[in-house]
Amino acid sequence: MIVLGIESSAHTFGVGIVTEYKENFILADERIQYVPKHGGIHPRESSRFLAEKAPMVIEKAFEKASLQLDDVNAIAVALGPGLGPCLRVGATAARALASFLKKPLVPVNHAVAHIEIGLKMTGLQDPVVVYLSGGNTAVIAYVEKRYRIFGETLDIALGNLLDTFARETSLGPPYVVAGMHVVDKCAESGKKFLDDFPYVVKGQDVAFSGLLTTALRAYRRGLDIHDICLTMREIAYNSVLEVTARCLMHTRKKEVMLVGGVAASPILREKFAKMAEKYNAIVGVVPPQYAVDNGVMIAWTGLLAFKSGLTIDLRSAIVKQRWRVDEVEIIWK
Ligand code: FE2
Repeated sequence: MIVLGIESSAHTFGVGIVTEYKENFILADERIQYVPKHGGIHPRESSRFLAEKAPMVIEKAFEKASLQLDDVNAIAVALGPGLGPCLRVGATAARALASFLKKPLVPVNHAVAHIEIGLKMTGLQDPVVVYLSGGNTAVIAYVEKRYRIFGETLDIALGNLLDTFARETSLGPPYVVAGMHVVDKCAESGKKFLDDFPYVVKGQDVAFSGLLTTALRAYRRGLDIHDICLTMREIAYNSVLEVTARCLMHTRKKEVMLVGGVAASPILREKFAKMAEKYNAIVGVVPPQYAVDNGVMIAWTGLLAFKSGLTIDLRSAIVKQRWRVDEVEIIWK
């Protein structure tokens, strides 16, 4: 069985083609990324860029896989969550391909795909998943047919906190240099913790926008940027750590999986490794290439779903910007 997957939820247009082989299951992995000249991602600008490049990326994927159009058994697509205009680019391309090739269309939840490719890449069986990216901060665990959320951000995502601070203080872009976030790098020279930065954990949820405001105010007051970075990232990381620790205790799971662009932080990994040790748990980190948005994760999850009989009618394949991970029944487990 061969499945083609399309990802376009934010700044990446990715096309993956996968098979059922245990090893070398990736036949193609093509992606292009929209990089804004100023500020954050503007959904319309990004979607225009993705739409322009989409045909070329799809063509390249078939070329890399040495496949003919007709060789794929199904087309999978990320229908959400994400930015509406961007998601629609992938959905349109997938519907067109499925209709033209007369192949079934498989709906994939972007967050579920991050988890499934993570499991495939790390070999973990049943971890507590810590999903940290520019748009997401959630602690998730599989319980009774669903990936359930055991804690999430009430406002902005952890990646958004770090990137926005970097942008407003001219530390970035680029935000990640040699595998390290510029805020982590800047924090290395921090000497002391600053007072009155808010540590917000409400029940099992975290919040970062107050922390961002406080950090930016401190910067504008002229406090040392290294101390600000150190204080901000320690508070942010530790709050996610606290929520994860409680989830481990509650679910009694013995694995932790870090996934998403922010998970690449070596500082974060070290903190999680130390914490997990206390609970006799092991930590698996999804390789950076597959921790960020890509088409392979959509294709792989699409393959799992398709094998369990999931397809969607072309007419019903519309995007869902706020499609939560816990709304999806995991029929392949
Ligand atoms: Fe993502």
